[in-house]
This record gives sequence, structure tokens and C-alpha cells, in this order.
Amino acid sequence: MMMKNSVVITIDGPSGSGKGTLAAKLAVHYGFHLLDSGALYRLLGLAAEQAGLFAQTPLDTHAVAELARGLDIEFIPDEQQRLSIRLNGQDVGDTIRTEAVGALASKVAVIPEVREALLCRQRDFAQAPGLIADGRDMGTVVFMDAPVKIYLTASAEARATRRVRQLQGMGINASMDDILSDLVARDRRDMERTIAPLKPADDAYQIDSSAIGIDDVLSMMIEYTDRQLEQAQIS
Ligand code: DC
Repeated sequence: MMMKNSVVITIDGPSGSGKGTLAAKLAVHYGFHLLDSGALYRLLGLAAEQAGLFAQTPLDTHAVAELARGLDIEFIPDEQQRLSIRLNGQDVGDTIRTEAVGALASKVAVIPEVREALLCRQRDFAQAPGLIADGRDMGTVVFMDAPVKIYLTASAEARATRRVRQLQGMGINASMDDILSDLVARDRRDMERTIAPLKPADDAYQIDSSAIGIDDVLSMMIEYTDRQLEQAQIS
């Protein structure tokens, strides 16, 4: 999708597929901006929790959407495109990566009015020279006309193993069984929701990274992207 003279490259896939790391590496490689759309849903889940909205049953979906429209957030990248993420001026980068906030994110993500509210905010990230958009529905909904779409996946076991290692790296002990069952439940919720379900776009290049190292996946992505951009005569 060409917006404001910018090229958009979408990377969709389930959690733990390595999308986040690869999206940041691609953004560094091309000198593009980065949208971590999962972080937006995580920030909204956290903000809704802080506002006490999850204490009410049923959840007031309209109030969550209102919150989404007014969310005070900042994404500040360093030179490696690691994002410092702020909510109401406070750094919440570590907090939003927890499993608990991931579960809240996936609950707010099923609300149609919330997804609608976040559409414009996500499209605003498409600035020159280009954007790497990482999420679940980047290629199917948010940036449907993007010239390069990648769908990255891996087996549930491979993804759970990576997640356990990532948590251990953050000093958090996690059980493989818990992580695997959470991940399968979240996949199901993301894939079976009626609005913007997780699925590859028809024109996406699909990569299964279960048995491929990150550097090789990155090379495959760059090779594919260069070819697509050349064909579209964008580079
Ligand atoms: O990628 P992640 O784990 O940070 O995403 C958190 C949740 O947000 C996940 O359960 C699905 C949801 N999400 C979404 O519905 N659409 C996106 N574009 C990105 C994330």
C-alpha cells in the first residue's frame, strides 16, 4: 500500500513465530518505520485493566473502544528498532509483555468497535520512506494493498519453546505446559474470531520457521521483498 509516499511491508502470524524480532531486523535493513500492532492491543488491554473495565461483567465494549480512541501512547525506537513503549507517559515496555497482559489484549482484540478505532491509528504509522507492519491482520485488513506481504508461522511446540526461553531471559520462570496451552488457546481465539481473524492473505509469502534459524528466515524475507519491490518498481 502506497501511503504518503511510503511502502508498506506486512508481516502477520501467530505469537512466537519470531515476527517481532524479524520485523525489527527488516525495519533496520530497509531504514523503515516499525509498527508493532500487538503492542497497541496490549497497551489497550493494560489501560482497560487500569481503568477497572475488566472488573465489570459484561465488559463494556463501548467504553473499551472509547479508551482506544483516546489512548495516550508513544513508541520510541532506538537504532536497532527496539521500541520504548509508553502509556500516559510511563514506560510499560516490560509490563505489556507479560502473559497476563497478552490475555487482556486478546480479549479487547475481539471487539469490532475496538478494531475499527485502532484502524486509523495503525495507518498513521505509514510514513515515508516505508513501514514494516507486524501483527495478525496487517496484510488482510489494515494494509490490504501492501506490495509485500509475509505470513510467518511455526509449530506450536517450536513457538512455546522460544517463548519459554524469552521469558527465562527476562528472569521469569515459566512452565512449558502452561505456555503451550496458553499459546494454543490464544491461537484459537485469534483464528476463530469473526472479525479480522488470523490467516494468511491470499497473496502472502508463507514461511514456516519451525526448523529454520532466524538469520536464514531474514535472508528469505529480504530476497522476497527485494524481488517484489523490483517487480512493483518501487525500489
Ligand atoms: O502479537 P502479540 O502477542 O503482541 O499480540 C497480542 C494480542 O493482540 C494477540 O492475542 C492478538 C491481538 N492482535 C490482534 O488481534 N491484531 C493484531 N494486528 C495484533 C495483535
